[in-house]
Amino acid sequence: MSSPSRRRFLVGLAASPVALALSCSATATPRPPSDDEVRRRPLPIPPLADSTVDDEGTRTFRLRAAPGATSIVAGTTTATWGYNGSVLGPTLRARDGEAVAVEFENALPVPSTVHWHGMHLPARCDGGPHQTVAPGARWRPAWTIRQPAATLWYHPHPHGETEKHLYRGLAGLFIVDDDASPDALPHDYGVDDIPLIIQDRKFTSTGALDESDATDVGLLGDTIVTNGIAGAYLPVRSERVRLRILNGSGGRLYNLGFADGLEFHLVASDGGLLAEPVSARRVQLSPGERIEIVVAVNPGTPALLRSFPIEDRAGLPSRKPHQFGVDDSFDVLELRPHRALAASAALPAILTHLPEPAASPTHTARSFDLQWHMINSQRMDMDRVDFCSTVDTDEIWTVRNVDDWPHNFHVHDTQFRILDVDGKSPPAALSGYKDTVYTPPGQRFRLALRFSEYTDRTNPYMYHCHLAMHEDQGMMGQFLVLAPGDEPAPKQMEMPSHAMR
Ligand code: C2O
Ligand code: CU
Ligand code: CU
Repeated sequence: MSSPSRRRFLVGLAASPVALALSCSATATPRPPSDDEVRRRPLPIPPLADSTVDDEGTRTFRLRAAPGATSIVAGTTTATWGYNGSVLGPTLRARDGEAVAVEFENALPVPSTVHWHGMHLPARCDGGPHQTVAPGARWRPAWTIRQPAATLWYHPHPHGETEKHLYRGLAGLFIVDDDASPDALPHDYGVDDIPLIIQDRKFTSTGALDESDATDVGLLGDTIVTNGIAGAYLPVRSERVRLRILNGSGGRLYNLGFADGLEFHLVASDGGLLAEPVSARRVQLSPGERIEIVVAVNPGTPALLRSFPIEDRAGLPSRKPHQFGVDDSFDVLELRPHRALAASAALPAILTHLPEPAASPTHTARSFDLQWHMINSQRMDMDRVDFCSTVDTDEIWTVRNVDDWPHNFHVHDTQFRILDVDGKSPPAALSGYKDTVYTPPGQRFRLALRFSEYTDRTNPYMYHCHLAMHEDQGMMGQFLVLAPGDEPAPKQMEMPSHAMR
């Protein structure tokens, strides 16, 4: 509890009326509050987004990005950005097979975009850096959901500015439902099925978001924020609770587990359910990744979800101690079970049918080397299409981190399966559908994927490191998905004036 990061965490919380009162008194000696004095507040649950369904059956959501003010730390107000509120955004929810549309309004003072991370959809609706929405302008993407139940998310993707927009508070979940998901999994939103967006922030002495002192992985905060606030607890009223966890940080890795070693089960990764529940005591999550866990709590006994130091330093060479935040540990969320808990169904033994990922004999092979702010020795160029894929054909991508920095790898429009990691089968936590994967230095991942159904000769999809600062610095590329025989027709892209430094 006395690690440097923990002390900084407490100093962060001290920017409260208590600290202000002390500074007005000539005699009192300021001291950081003890753990008992850290008052926890109930975890805010992002509301489910309202929607309207028209005669054709299209479900339309409305999102408005705007500045606001949020009490991230109790007693302090911080200027933030949010969708339909001061920070984060409502949870969008729709079913596989449903036609959806989003009426997006940009009420920010700067251009932004909204990207549907993990969603299979046409490139023009993807909300990447080419779908910039000017201040005061609107954008209405519409598509039909065709993918299994999953916890996806949405966030800004403006060229070179993603880290800042995300850090200021723009992010939300998009839950996809389907008919095949087992009813026995906790599924009462906000009751036993809990969205949990984990982020890190730091504050200036006046309580503003501190955007200074970026590290090699971008801004690292000393205050952990869950669903928009620091120091949250979750009242639990049922024997089992499902947490849909998103690492919504720009650059921080988390190694999540319970303080008393409580076991839990992984039930879904980025793109949907795992084949069967996987028992675990720790799970690592890099920026942009999601994991769904189910934990059985004990009546009346609090369980503290923490982020622990990463045992192998996330594969980073030890000659760089205390960098990248991998040695930090933080309280994330206290679960407070009632004394009398409602009964929950037992976890099903089988969650879904997942075919074994297989290397198709007719695949297209591509490889991606990650280093510094580059992929294959190139930085992102809005006017360069890096390759064209043929729709509905198999591809195998070899992704290598040839750096001594942490990186991860995210692909738009699709969910991939990991064939192997350094030639070996992936661990159970990485055995399902993924759209983002952590790539430790020196390791080689082979991904099986395909881009189905949507083609576009003009609008590209992105692939990139999801450490937001790396992405902003150009660790990203773009590709078109074409019908067989089609020629690319990329438009000459207009570079926004605030483009790459
Ligand atoms: Cu989370 Cu390119 O996206
Ligand atoms: Cu994405
Ligand atoms: Cu990176």
